[in-house]
Amino acid sequence: MGISAEDIKNLHPYEIRILHAIERLMRHSRWVAEDELRAAVHLSEPELKYRAGCLIEKDMIRSDSVPYKGYSLIFGGYDTLALLSLSAKKTVSALGSHIAVGKESEIYEALGFGIVILKFHKVGQRSFNTVKTTREYMDGGHCPWIFASAKSAKREYEALTALNGKINVPVPVDIDRHTIVMSHIDGINLNRAKLEEPEKTWNDIISQVKTAYQAGYIHGDLSEYNIMISGDKVWIIDWPQWMHPDHVNADQTLFHDVDTVAEHFRKKYRIEINSEDAVSFVKIP
Ligand SMILES: Nc1ncnc2c1ncn2[C@@H]1O[C@H](COP(=O)(O)OP(=O)(O)OP(=O)(O)O)[C@@H](O)[C@H]1O
Ligand SMILES: [Mg+2]
Repeated sequence: MGISAEDIKNLHPYEIRILHAIERLMRHSRWVAEDELRAAVHLSEPELKYRAGCLIEKDMIRSDSVPYKGYSLIFGGYDTLALLSLSAKKTVSALGSHIAVGKESEIYEALGFGIVILKFHKVGQRSFNTVKTTREYMDGGHCPWIFASAKSAKREYEALTALNGKINVPVPVDIDRHTIVMSHIDGINLNRAKLEEPEKTWNDIISQVKTAYQAGYIHGDLSEYNIMISGDKVWIIDWPQWMHPDHVNADQTLFHDVDTVAEHFRKKYRIEINSEDAVSFVKIP
């Protein structure tokens, strides 16, 4: 289910207070006991139950009575907290259309200083959504999906910041929790493009891969789906899986990145590209 700007706009201040308290208390346990929550938000029992019920209906939290009556945040609530904070900072003023759902993220257009892109990182969502694994997740004191999603966003933001101005990546604008705000690229993914000068585009891509590598970044998930074309400009997106060239798997990862894109050009445009030679080119300073 997508994020409802309407639901967020209509949140009652008590509901916002509850979301913040659950997030805070989930640092210590993944399942916040009702009593503990009530003490934190200073609401009467019926008021808390009613407001929590509204949040459950909006898919922002969930409740359970085993092992004890309690609540936990789910992605809808975490998205809401990020959006509330980004809008308080005036980074985002309105949520636009939902443009993509990936394996581990959701992408929206939004209004900030012009059109921006919001990328909500969602790591562990699938397993979290199944009741059985949720049970397992509830044991112990940490919250792997919040932690992993925020970490993934942070990693991507770090790469975008480091590579900005060196190669063509979206401009990082802001980050909050698991959410990145970045500039919007007015283009299409390479897999959908019909290139007029494919050799030129390939050379552009491999030069950018080289510059990124020399700056300490191997993409780690490079493919025709993570490259965008706008006019004659080539952009490389989707960086959370980047790897440092000193990593033990760096060579293998770099080869995979280069060979995946090379294969796309070999197949679609019948260009002869030797992936080993391309990797050597990338590695030579
Ligand atoms: N800055 C941007 N400007 C325009 N479109 C974008 C931008 N970032 C992402 N998109 C679009 O959204 C799609 C998904 O984004 P992205 O590749 O970053 O995440 P993902 O593929 O969902 O991540 P994962 O590979 O982890 O599942 C992209 O293929 C692209 O079409
Ligand atoms: Mg992608």
